[in-house]
Amino acid sequence: MIVRGRIRPPGDKSISHRVLFMAALARGRSELSGLLTAQDVAATARALRALGVEVSPVRAGAAVRVQGLGLRLRAPRRSLHCGNSGTTARLALGVLAGQRFAARLTGDASLRRRPMRRVTDALRRMGARIVEERGDGLPLTVRGGHLKALDFESPVASAQVKGALLFAGLTGGVRVRVREPYPSRDHSERLLAHLGFDVHRNGDAVVLEPPARAGTCPPVRLAVPGDLSSAAYLIAAAVLAERGELLIEDVGVNPTRTGCLDVLARMGAQVERWNLRDVGGEPVADLVVRPATLRATTVSAAEIPRLIDEVPILAVVASRAQGETVFHDVGELRVKESNRLELLAANLRRLGIAAEVAANDLHIRGGDRAPRGRVDTARDHRIAMAFAVLGTVPGAGVALSERASVGVSYPAFFRDLRAIAGGGR
Ligand code: S3P
Repeated sequence: MIVRGRIRPPGDKSISHRVLFMAALARGRSELSGLLTAQDVAATARALRALGVEVSPVRAGAAVRVQGLGLRLRAPRRSLHCGNSGTTARLALGVLAGQRFAARLTGDASLRRRPMRRVTDALRRMGARIVEERGDGLPLTVRGGHLKALDFESPVASAQVKGALLFAGLTGGVRVRVREPYPSRDHSERLLAHLGFDVHRNGDAVVLEPPARAGTCPPVRLAVPGDLSSAAYLIAAAVLAERGELLIEDVGVNPTRTGCLDVLARMGAQVERWNLRDVGGEPVADLVVRPATLRATTVSAAEIPRLIDEVPILAVVASRAQGETVFHDVGELRVKESNRLELLAANLRRLGIAAEVAANDLHIRGGDRAPRGRVDTARDHRIAMAFAVLGTVPGAGVALSERASVGVSYPAFFRDLRAIAGGGR
């Protein structure tokens, strides 16, 4: 396979959610460009509309205008349906904790299975009242109100937890301090700092000081960079190709997200960064990727938060590398959109690749045998995209159980993959 061309990945999902929430909490009109136009971000826009915020349609090529209400949103008339989006649900919990009304959150079958106590335990300590309907997960009802300051040690390294608690501090007007076992992505902190809030690191903790003048958040004007997590599938297709070169433009290279580039470099695939620049407090670059001969590597527990969403595609790349690759301590993958840990190993085995889960570690023995077989995506977008990339290697015959799930984060994925690699079944 030859890979070639230039391409811009869709807008960063994490940043898109956060700028929408911040624009809703700002007083006045915000204008956002480059926002991800996919189901997950549409879920956040829909939830905000239900909370009384005017959000123009999130459409490709058009700036999104948000008429923010300030920190006090309006009581919703219906449940807020977060679709498949864990980020929508968890960040919304934080925002709602500071509101003086009750709101019920729900989601699709996958989201309803995902844990929420990692956020709600801390919000309860702040004083929010939360009623679960079926144990740890959605649906649940949050009744916010007068919050107390929080000093929280999170058992998981999770930017959704951290972001939710910072949003609770913001809407509740109280100080929040969060520590995590390893640093997770810091988009919330960067955005809050960019908008003038006092958010800083204190040792291994992140601290948000209550705003001096409560109720003030300036409108947001921001261009969202391309998503490295989506670019990772294109990068992998280029690395696995026989010939060619791919230019991927306008990609966020926040160091809390670039673990996948470090791992690829150790495996023998150097991704060049050109035109490094700052966009709204986030580092952005153009990436140049070429095919490489790959060797196995070991990925440590400390690296995982910096590549948590890239484990599926890195596992696919590892299946083409000489030797055994190990991802340590990837238990968090069990509670993503699917049980990604077991599903990855099972799907690799279905294609004739040796892969196993031992405790919370994932082991993959790579080689150059053509992968052939049928993959169960469990309607998980990242599993579908990762195995579609594996389907582009010479001699491969990879059938996916479905392809529609890519609409969650990268609706144009198959078109883009065909454009650069002329393949991908
Ligand atoms: C995200 C954080 C990560 C990631 C998810 C997006 C975010 O989840 O897997 O796709 O935008 O905060 P966790 O923070 O729960 O690990």
